Amino acid sequence: MKRILKIVLFILVVGFIVIQFINRPDKTILAETAPDDITKHMQVPENVQNILKRSCYDCHSSHTKWPWYSHIAPASWLVGDDVTNGRKKMNFSEWGKISDSKKEARLNEVCEQITEGEMPLPNYLILHSKAKLSKEDKDILCRWAEEEVKKLEEKDSE
Ligand code: HEC
Repeated sequence: MKRILKIVLFILVVGFIVIQFINRPDKTILAETAPDDITKHMQVPENVQNILKRSCYDCHSSHTKWPWYSHIAPASWLVGDDVTNGRKKMNFSEWGKISDSKKEARLNEVCEQITEGEMPLPNYLILHSKAKLSKEDKDILCRWAEEEVKKLEEKDSE
């Protein structure tokens, strides 16, 4: 019986070590502000930037702060997926690369998603309670998004 336990434990330990080498997310962190960063393409007041950095940048920018457990499989796969999919949908560090109509759509979605409580992802908030948006944070983001959408529409109709 002891022998079987030892074998099982051995397999678990080896398995745990092996999975560490599978599907490791790319954890490059951008040190400086990218040329296509949203702050270089539209007005982002400091209070808005602070909210975005605190609550959205881990998944929607190239400035992800990788927590310790994001280096350990299988947690690393879950975190990596959120970041990859979040960035694919909208990356504030690559904002300049998308068309004006896409920017408009994304800005509209920002207000929608936070009002409905879809963003930041609820499972993220469990371990990042500071990222939770207050009513005031939501108002600030929505007002900002609305203003920038208006600017884009005016630019479009010129
Ligand atoms: C833990 C990671 C994470 C955080 C933090 C996060 N998001 Fe997301 N976000 C995602 C993922 C993943 C998707 C893609 C979801 C999908 O495709 O269904 C997404 C999608 C979106 C979309 C596009 C929605 C759509 O389906 O059109 C918007 C807009 C958005 N997020 C806004 C925000 C805002 C604003 C914040 C901060 C207040 C934020 N997100 C924080 C992971 C995150």
